[in-house]
Amino acid sequence: MKEFKLPKELLMGSATAATQIEGGDKNSNWYHWSLQGKIANNESSIIAADHYNRVEEDIKLMKEMNHDIYRMSIEWSRIEPEEGKWSQEGINHYQMEIKSLLEAGIKPLITLHHFSHPQWFEELGQWTNKASAEYLLRFTKKVVSSIGHDVNEYCTINEPNVFVMDTFMDGKYPPGKKDDIVSYFKASRNLIIAHLKAYEAIHHIREDMGYKDTLVGIAIHLAYFEVYKPKLLTKLSKNLMDYSFHQLFLNGMIHGQLKFPIGFTYPIGKGVFCDFLGVNYYSRHLIHSSYNPAMLFGEVKVENGLADEKINDLGWEIYPEGLYRVTKKVYDKYKLPIYITENGIPDAKDSKRAKFIYDHMIQIKRLIDSGVDVRRYYHWSLLDNLEWNDGYFPRFGLVHVDYKDQKRTIRNSGYFYGELCKNKEVTRAMIVKYLI
Ligand code: FCB
Repeated sequence: MKEFKLPKELLMGSATAATQIEGGDKNSNWYHWSLQGKIANNESSIIAADHYNRVEEDIKLMKEMNHDIYRMSIEWSRIEPEEGKWSQEGINHYQMEIKSLLEAGIKPLITLHHFSHPQWFEELGQWTNKASAEYLLRFTKKVVSSIGHDVNEYCTINEPNVFVMDTFMDGKYPPGKKDDIVSYFKASRNLIIAHLKAYEAIHHIREDMGYKDTLVGIAIHLAYFEVYKPKLLTKLSKNLMDYSFHQLFLNGMIHGQLKFPIGFTYPIGKGVFCDFLGVNYYSRHLIHSSYNPAMLFGEVKVENGLADEKINDLGWEIYPEGLYRVTKKVYDKYKLPIYITENGIPDAKDSKRAKFIYDHMIQIKRLIDSGVDVRRYYHWSLLDNLEWNDGYFPRFGLVHVDYKDQKRTIRNSGYFYGELCKNKEVTRAMIVKYLI
């Protein structure tokens, strides 16, 4: 194992999402989804890691791990619990959290929609509703006029591609539709429009406040797709999947272009609607052909017979090289500054996480050395949290959470990551201490 250095300008920290850690919110669609018993083991979002009541304690943990940056989401249902009614308490809470982060010297990146939204929005048909982009716009304006003096960086929508897949095709997220390709494309269109509108609004609001340093982007999940066998049908399905999972959102949200198969171009004019591109990367997906048109004639699998050290607790393949490949590809095409907005591993025993971080940071170094403008790395995640429909068993945290008493303990890999954040290098001493 070799030592290596990263540029000092690379900022490092971790990422979370409100529903997964905060607890206490009864107005979000995920709480209602829990009530229907849709989360593994009948678990619920109602307590999670109780972060809402432990903000200060958790910021101390970030500090202890030398974070430069932190990506968090603002829960829409806490700001607009009923349609058109704003909660000052919710606004105050996030203003307080952001101030505490800044006092600790940690720069926040705010996500506006990270898989969850108010139950009233869910009941209106959520992202299939024609007015959905307008609803997000109203919420965005409220948030940015409340925190815009303190925050210059925003991620409008998290993983629109995973969101529509899990919501309308795989039935995992509320309202649990399966193979509903019409809703998939309707919602995709509305999410893209929502981003374009929010992008412009955030810039305008902060310009009116007198700032010129606003940065707005998205966080897209980039899966490294590979064909299982180089057959014609499998290649075709890989291309279809790549289009509907990646290209549709990248072209739509970066260039405002919406073409085939919905035959629609958003009339916002030409331009670039992302100031950075957030990349969430986890794994390699092997594409097999199938006869299911709803799945675009493809089926995603994990390679058979992989060694234990190559598999995480959710059965996903650990494939660091993929981070290099997917990021290089989007950078070469779009030339936007790259933020790695998520990358991490469920690893309850904490026996693979330090090595995972090491291997993925080597890929970041490779990217930077080959001219890719990678500026940020946000590890997923700060704390153990609710992994959506999979519940609490996947342990993604740099910090272990004991859900019985909410006690936090920094994992060994968390200390490794903390040293890396501080020094931006892996030394021989760190390799000996954490990796071998
Ligand atoms: C991503 C989500 C994030 C988390 C990780 C493991 O798809 O954005 O909330 O659940 O996966």
